[in-house]
Amino acid sequence: MNTAVHIEKLTFKYDTDEVLKDIDIEIPKGSFVGILGPNGSGKTTLLKNICNILKPDNGKILINNKNVSNIKYKELAKIIAVVHQTSEIQFQFSVFDVVLMGRFPYLSRFQSEGKKDIEIAKEAMLSTGTWELRDKSINEISGGERQRVMIARALTQQPQILILDEPISHLDIKYQIGILDLCKKLNVENQITVIMTLHDINLAGRYSDYLILLDKGRIKVMDTPEKVLTQENISNVYDIEVDILKRNGDKTPYIIPI
Ligand SMILES: Nc1ncnc2c1ncn2[C@@H]1O[C@H](COP(=O)(O)OP(=O)(O)OP(=O)(O)O)[C@@H](O)[C@H]1O
Ligand SMILES: [Mg+2]
Repeated sequence: MNTAVHIEKLTFKYDTDEVLKDIDIEIPKGSFVGILGPNGSGKTTLLKNICNILKPDNGKILINNKNVSNIKYKELAKIIAVVHQTSEIQFQFSVFDVVLMGRFPYLSRFQSEGKKDIEIAKEAMLSTGTWELRDKSINEISGGERQRVMIARALTQQPQILILDEPISHLDIKYQIGILDLCKKLNVENQITVIMTLHDINLAGRYSDYLILLDKGRIKVMDTPEKVLTQENISNVYDIEVDILKRNGDKTPYIIPI
């Protein structure tokens, strides 16, 4: 198997608090992976370990078969782009400038962006519906608009692996589907590996090739949505009772809380 991200025996602690335990995952290149789990189960911490923002206490993470801690910052930024759950931008940059910053891995220290960089940023903004916002200040747009701008910036990085931490949490239903469709298109047409945390179990099931269900820092199960979305798994991890429905001809199960 061609593996994009290989996590081996990963353990991670904040101080003494063990938040991730014995994580072993292989994410195939070109797959769309959804990470599910209750609040505080370790999803964000896992994503931050994958992109080398946090360092594991034990075990290792291989990106394209290379230990992530040995990959230089700019090299890693050409491979992985991340859209964080929350993002702080202190200065009054314009939306366009924020998106254009996604080109930094391709520019040397004092090199400014060229025509090609500007075109790539524009294309990312058109596909995320953010081009109209380009002249506004990044701190004077809505939460959902900002989320789409941060996705545009990640796309401008032209990564092989796109990591998104709850990318649709502030979006209305049209943009939720729009962003998920866009990620799926990039995944299918450009073979970009997509790794995404989501709280919407049904949307996660509909778009993902594989789901990872995290429970108190451990992997409860990683498999196809049909195998992961069972009454037993959902009630064990979320402590709720659910019905499982399938629409005619649909492979993916739908979860309805009862
Ligand atoms: N910077 C930190 N310092 C100490 N503990 C932290 C820190 N960040 C998170 N934690 C703790 O680690 C655990 C996992 O947090 P994490 O943010 O990874 O959860 P999550 O699954 O992403 O949750 P959510 O669905 O709410 O985003 C939680 O118990 C949280 O309180
Ligand atoms: Mg989180």
